[in-house]
Order: sequence, then structure tokens, then C-alpha cells
Amino acid sequence: MSAILPSAASLYDRVRRVIPAIEWSTFLDDIDAILALKRERNAVILAHNYQTPEIFHCVADIVGDSLALARKARSTEADVIVLAGVYFMAETAKLLNPEKTVLIPDLNAGCSLAESITAEDVRLMRQRIPNVPIVTYVNTSAAVKAESDICCTSGNARAVVESLGVPRVIMLPDEYLAKNVAAETNVEILAWKGHCEVHERFAASDIRELRQAHPGIVVLAHPECPPEVVAAADFSGSTAAMSDYVERQKPPRVVLMTECSMSDNVALQHPEIEFIRPCNLCPHMKRITLANIRAALEQNRHIVTIEPAIAGRARLAVERMLAL
Ligand code: 13P
Ligand code: SF4
Repeated sequence: MSAILPSAASLYDRVRRVIPAIEWSTFLDDIDAILALKRERNAVILAHNYQTPEIFHCVADIVGDSLALARKARSTEADVIVLAGVYFMAETAKLLNPEKTVLIPDLNAGCSLAESITAEDVRLMRQRIPNVPIVTYVNTSAAVKAESDICCTSGNARAVVESLGVPRVIMLPDEYLAKNVAAETNVEILAWKGHCEVHERFAASDIRELRQAHPGIVVLAHPECPPEVVAAADFSGSTAAMSDYVERQKPPRVVLMTECSMSDNVALQHPEIEFIRPCNLCPHMKRITLANIRAALEQNRHIVTIEPAIAGRARLAVERMLAL
């Protein structure tokens, strides 16, 4: 006997605290269609923590940070993976599932970090600084990953750097992540000059003002924030680490210095906690909508492909990270 699908209407309780009823009514048709299409196509939706609540809480099968999405992409039995996130995440899912169909609902869902560096830049760097391992943040193209020794995410960057057992590494392309890791390790880190356009806008003065305006507030910052912001925060970690911190510590008042949907998604699970909301939107993450997820499943678009010459080497860099 096949399982009965939940109807969109029955899901509203999950998000009613952040989505007004009038807005919710515009989502019903797409949610019902997506739930049916997932079953028809044996598809799963992997959604990053920055996806909007109607995607994150109502149609996603697997949610998490970049590391969790990469790990869980490997173990799915589905034929089709829809990546509700940005392009590099879809490429990573494809690298780990070469035989499956991986769809990204909007091809222009990019990332300023991935845009900040090319494969040629990495080859030149290797020529100029030979014999120093290159650690590449997953927020890069498959072509850049293919030129590197190992990947990392914000959730494992320090562990990856220290796993290499060398005194010096090159870490690409996020300057701030590299500096934030350098502050925690004895390994010397050579950085590139890429920045996340969302996290670079936070300033240490924002934190000082927040602490004045909201006494007792606990400040969590993503490690893509500038080092002075991370230094002024109470805790820094990947999106999953921030979510776990809230779950574990249950601070009465908290601010997440990161993308806006993250606070909505975490707040829905913790009605007792006061979330203060200065946040920045990621325009790339926000390109993904219920409408284009539905279109992706209906029209089998946009299929992610990676040139075989690149895929083999890029996969190795990702697999080395996952093996740690
Ligand atoms: P996480 O791996 O921490 O989820 O970060 C991904 C990202 O793009 C943050 O801007
Ligand atoms: Fe890229 Fe920053 Fe958007 Fe994350 S938040 S996808 S790092 S631009």
C-alpha cells in the first residue's frame, strides 16, 4: 500500500509563525504538485539552511549545511536529486552521484566566492608556491576543486587543514574563512582574496550596538564573516553548528550573523527563544522558489553536468574531505 501524501494545507502549522496566511495561500498549489512529483519521479529535495521556510520545512527531504548536504547526497536511493541551494552545491551532489540526475532549479544561483577564482588562478598559484597543499572551500566550481588537493567546508576547515600534517597550506578562496581558521591553528595559512558578499557586510560595530540594545544577547557568527566580527561574537561555526548551538544552549536571546532565512528556519523550531534579526539576504539562494522547484521536476531542468576530465579530479578532492 502506498503512503498517503500530506497535503499542503496540513503543513501550515510548521511555518505559520513566519509566513502570513495570505502568503501561504499562494504556495498551496506548488507544494501539492511538488509532493506528488517527488513520488512520481523517485526524487529527493536537498535544501540548504538558507532556503526559505516554505521550501525548508514543507518540501525538503534533507536539510543542512554544505557538509551535511554533501554527505547525505551520497547515501540517497533516489533517482533524481533536486538541489535547493546554489550551483556549487548541485555540482558537489553530482560529483558524488555521477549516475543520478541532479537538477538545479535556477542556473544563475551562483556564489560570490565561487566567482572569485578560476582554475587558471589555482594552477598559477601552484606554480608560484610549489609543494604547499591547496585546500579549497567547497564554495567553488568543480574546475577549481579539480586543481586542489582537498576540499573543506566551514564545518571542517580547521580539521582538514590540520589533517595534512604540514606547517603551511594555501586555503582558497575565502580570505576571511582562511583568517578565521588561522586564528585557531598553528598551521600557517596563505589566503586568496575572495569574499562572501553576504557575510562581508557584517561589522564588529553591529555587534557592539546589538549588545547595547539587547542586553544578554548571544551572538553567533558564520566564519565567512570578517575576523573582527568573529572575534566579537560568542561563537562561530557553520550554519549547522550555529543551529546545533541554539538547540544545545537554548540562549534566551540570540542573533545569527548570517543569511536571513537561517533565523526563520531555526526560530520555527524554538518558539521560546527571542531571535534578533539583523541579517543579510543571499540573492543567489533566493533564486530558488517553489515555482522553479516544481518546474525542475516537471520539465527535468536544469540538469547538472560536469566534464569527465574535471569530474574525476574534483571528486577526489571532495572524497578526501569526506574520508576524514
Ligand atoms: P555552510 O556550509 O556553513 O552551510 O555555509 C555555506 C554557505 O554558503 C554560507 O554562506
Ligand atoms: Fe555564496 Fe555567500 Fe551566498 Fe553562501 S551566502 S552562497 S557564500 S554568496
